[in-house]
Amino acid sequence: MQTNTIQAGNTQPQPFQGQNVVIIGGSSGIGLSTAAHAKDAGANLFLISRNAQRLREAAEAIGGATQIVADIATPQPAIFADIGRIDHLLITAGTARLLPLKDQSEADLMQVMRERLIGPLLTVKAALPLLHAGSSITLTSAQLASRPLGIGTIMAAAVSAVESTVRALAVELSPIRVNAVSPGMVDTPLLDGLMGDAKRQVLEQTASTLPTRNVGRPEDIAQAILFLMANRFVTGEVLHVDGGGRWA
Ligand SMILES: NC(=O)c1ccc[n+]([C@@H]2O[C@H](COP(=O)([O-])OP(=O)(O)OC[C@H]3O[C@@H](n4cnc5c(N)ncnc54)[C@H](OP(=O)(O)O)[C@@H]3O)[C@@H](O)[C@H]2O)c1
Repeated sequence: MQTNTIQAGNTQPQPFQGQNVVIIGGSSGIGLSTAAHAKDAGANLFLISRNAQRLREAAEAIGGATQIVADIATPQPAIFADIGRIDHLLITAGTARLLPLKDQSEADLMQVMRERLIGPLLTVKAALPLLHAGSSITLTSAQLASRPLGIGTIMAAAVSAVESTVRALAVELSPIRVNAVSPGMVDTPLLDGLMGDAKRQVLEQTASTLPTRNVGRPEDIAQAILFLMANRFVTGEVLHVDGGGRWA
């Protein structure tokens, strides 16, 4: 007969203690916040992005991390050469290319697919020898996979593909767990580039339309990512952290 067991207090497992957490896109926003929380929980951090200076500053801000300069759109097979084992791989790297289709060339469309889909797949492939049965992979989708914006159609297509990719990879790479987080509007440096001086006003206006009446903070998404990394029974899942923005 199955008996009930309850773990509480000091007997709680510590899923990040001594674990190698690799974050591509870890120098800013959601990736950096996740890095900070994982570091606090005892993880060894490996931060990857394109700009060495931003990586240095991010590593300093969280109290130390190994830094690797790489572009997710053209990942190198040897990207993980200096890492012995990967317990949790997170890919948040990405820019917002929200243009009307009429203003995008074939090269623009291909670049979005490389950054959002092909690059992450090649990166997962490069990580395979370092992953193990208890490892997790977390990819990043976006609310516009579910709710069109009127621009950025190729982005919507690419992140929708990410959502079906995690379901397929969860089966293909089993028992490695593969999930995605899907953020709504989150106040990060990404939006500074996108909205400039209008950012504050856009955030306030968006917040007023959301069921939660606020936009996301990087740590709101980081908490969801840490859940996906730590929970041993969740795979093939897309966790929407969007203030209810898909329904508003
Ligand atoms: N913020 C939002 O409202 C929102 C909403 C939905 C989805 N998302 C998605 O969530 C993810 C994280 O967004 P965020 O808001 O945290 O953005 P962010 O603050 O701009 O951070 C993006 C990070 O990714 C890195 N990066 C960008 N392009 C890269 C590339 N080609 N190769 C390697 N690293 C790259 C950046 O560093 P470098 O530029 O130095 O390489 C930075 O570390 C993105 O995929 C974004 O599309 C964000």
